[in-house]
Amino acid sequence: YDYDLLVVGSANADLVIGVDRRPGPGETVLGSDLAVHPGGKGANQAVAAARLGARTALLARVGDDAHGRLLLDSQRAAGVDTVGVLTGGAPTGVALITVDPSGDNSIVVSPGANARLAPEDVRAAKVLLSSARVVSAQLEIPLDTVAEVVRSLADGSRFVLNPSPPAPLPAEVLAACDPLVVNEHEARVILGGSAGDAPEEWADGLLALGPRSVVVTLGAEGALVADGESAVRVPSVQVAAVDTTGAGDAFTAALAWRLGLGDDLPTAAAFAVRVGAAAVTREGAQASFPTLEETQAL
Ligand code: RIB
Ligand code: NA
Repeated sequence: YDYDLLVVGSANADLVIGVDRRPGPGETVLGSDLAVHPGGKGANQAVAAARLGARTALLARVGDDAHGRLLLDSQRAAGVDTVGVLTGGAPTGVALITVDPSGDNSIVVSPGANARLAPEDVRAAKVLLSSARVVSAQLEIPLDTVAEVVRSLADGSRFVLNPSPPAPLPAEVLAACDPLVVNEHEARVILGGSAGDAPEEWADGLLALGPRSVVVTLGAEGALVADGESAVRVPSVQVAAVDTTGAGDAFTAALAWRLGLGDDLPTAAAFAVRVGAAAVTREGAQASFPTLEETQAL
């Protein structure tokens, strides 16, 4: 394989404002200075993996504009192969993000060019798909495109999906996930009314939908990994949260990379929770992702 990880997904310019609290309907609040960061769940995953040392490529679409150049620059600076980053068709995706004093974020995404990443773009990237040990995706690109990724997987390559933002998933996509990586919110939306309250119940419910394995991220509590034979809790390391934006993307990328190298699910998750924890200690998404040395030092 030429790549440890191919990420198929979104690239957004993150427009970030710190707030004391979020405004309610009809309300105006004043916030911090505006920060503009490279983001998007796909672009974030690619940078996170490359910074850890993974040979990484990104299949994505940006606009022919300043935000698109910001995203390409950050991918290249991290060492991501951008041969699969397509340009044009619509403006680069934008995420409007507020971060509160506890480091929690709220995000509204305008997909822009991400919505134009089409199944035919996946077909045209056959060489990339067949050169990757692991392929990961999220849901800020069309579901049809994700389904085409699943259909195009090379024999022996592994598929990891973070269904964010959550949407109903076709059986063929669910069946390919190894693992399906969700947080509490995503688990509850996908499971609907019958979710229950314990992460173990969510994992059981999700496994019943067909993925080969499930990882439930639990924030400061770490993660739960389940493959139908066993369910294991993986604790996190305690850190002071500054900005959680992109921490889930860093977790998923680290997990996908380590699984591709042959780690079992609990071992890969134990590594990935440290990567996610390091990411919450710094501002921004991509700028906050740790190197391998920083992860090991945590
Ligand atoms: O997961 C964090 C990301 O979600 C941000 O970078 C933003 O662009 C949205 O895609
Ligand atoms: Na961060």
